[in-house]
Amino acid sequence: MIKKFSIIVAISENNGIGKDNRLLFHIPDDLKRFKKLTKEHTVIMGKKTFESLPVKPLPERRNIVITDIPGEIFTGCISAYSIQDVFALADENKENFIIGGGMVYKQFLPYTDKLYITQLHHIFEADTFFPGINYSEWKLMERQDINKSQNIPFDYSFLFYKRIIP
Ligand SMILES: NC(=O)c1ccc[n+]([C@@H]2O[C@H](COP(=O)([O-])OP(=O)(O)OC[C@H]3O[C@@H](n4cnc5c(N)ncnc54)[C@H](OP(=O)(O)O)[C@@H]3O)[C@@H](O)[C@H]2O)c1
Repeated sequence: MIKKFSIIVAISENNGIGKDNRLLFHIPDDLKRFKKLTKEHTVIMGKKTFESLPVKPLPERRNIVITDIPGEIFTGCISAYSIQDVFALADENKENFIIGGGMVYKQFLPYTDKLYITQLHHIFEADTFFPGINYSEWKLMERQDINKSQNIPFDYSFLFYKRIIP
């Protein structure tokens, strides 16, 4: 049974991740990075995030959707009915990405050893938030800063952390 997950998330300056079951922004390069990192791996999400996807399931990835509703199935996906189910379904030979949303990030953060964060240097109005991160447990391995442009009117950074304290 695997208990080592990777979280991938975009977080605003005020820790927001979503509003009205949508993302806070659209950054094409962030979506490209998301696809490149998660392709051929397993992606794990809560039902609300699954419902918010424009294309479902996410192609070229093994999709796991978590719901409390017994027997509920999602076309092209594997259903999980608890976090224990997810532990059992995770793939030992691939990376297992927790892709949201807030409820699911919160439950899996203690079992996560890699964090891929797109940090938006901007405050957005949000109704869903990322749980607090104790940065003393994490080491920053990579950082790429992107300046605002005509299309994306705020700075953002791609950050990659590894857990150093279990
Ligand atoms: N910024 C980002 O990177 C990012 C990424 C993903 C999503 N988001 C945003 O996050 C928001 C959605 O997050 P959310 O917290 O509202 O919802 P969510 O975490 O996507 O889904 C919550 C649902 O998942 C199921 N669930 C969660 N934990 C479970 C467990 N332990 N056992 C059984 N079922 C479980 C339940 O489904 P049932 O109700 O069926 O029981 C629950 O209602 C949206 O705004 C979305 O756009 C942002």
